[in-house]
Amino acid sequence: MSTALKRPAARLAVLASGRGSHLRNLYKACAQGILDAEISLVVSNNVRSGAWHFASSEDLPHWFCNTSADVKRSAVDKALADCLLEHRIDWVITAGYLKKIGPSTLAAFPNKIINIHPALLPNYGGAGMYGQNVHRAVLAANERQSGATVHYVTAHYDEGAIIAQNHVTITPGMTPDSLAEAILKIEHPLLVHALQGLLTHHD
Ligand code: GRF
Repeated sequence: MSTALKRPAARLAVLASGRGSHLRNLYKACAQGILDAEISLVVSNNVRSGAWHFASSEDLPHWFCNTSADVKRSAVDKALADCLLEHRIDWVITAGYLKKIGPSTLAAFPNKIINIHPALLPNYGGAGMYGQNVHRAVLAANERQSGATVHYVTAHYDEGAIIAQNHVTITPGMTPDSLAEAILKIEHPLLVHALQGLLTHHD
C-alpha cells in the first residue's frame, strides 16, 4: 500500500460579476473530479448576477465585494485580500469580473490569480475590452480568427503572461453575438484544461 499522502483538493475562489457560466462549469468540473479542487469562495460585486444567484442556490460560500464609487479602491482591495486569505484560497479565477485587482490582493496571491479573456491576447485586450466590445472590435478589423486566452492577472488589464489559448475561425456573417457564443464554447474547456495544468504543476 502506498504511504504517499494525497494532497488536499485545491481551494478555488471565483470572482464574477455576470452570467456565471464559467462558475457553473468549474463547479461541475470539481464535482465530477475533472479538477482536483473545490469552489471554496465566490466573490461578486453584483447581487443580481447569475454568478451570485448560483453561489446562493448551491450554498457555496459567497462574499459581496462592494465596489461602489463611495468605497475607496484601496479599501476594496484590502477587504478582498483579507477575505481570500481567510478562506485559505489557493487559486483565484476571475471570470467576467469587471474590476481591476488591487496591489494588496496581487501581493497576497503572487502568480495565483488567473483570468479568462474572450479574445486572442495580446490583441483585443485592455481597458474597455470586455463583452461585446471585444467581439465588435475583432469583427470590425476583419480578423479571420478570434478565440480565448487564460492568463495571469497583473496590475494592468489583460497583460499578464499567457497560460493557454484556443482559437475559433470567423465565418462570413458572424455577428458579435454569434462570435461570443462560438468563443464561449471553447472558453469553458480551455479554462478547465489550464487549471488542470496549474494544479498539477504548482505547489
Ligand atoms: C466570458 O466570456 C469571459 O471570457 C469574460 O467574461 C465572460 C464571463 O462569462 N472575461 P460568464 O459570466 O462566466 O458566463
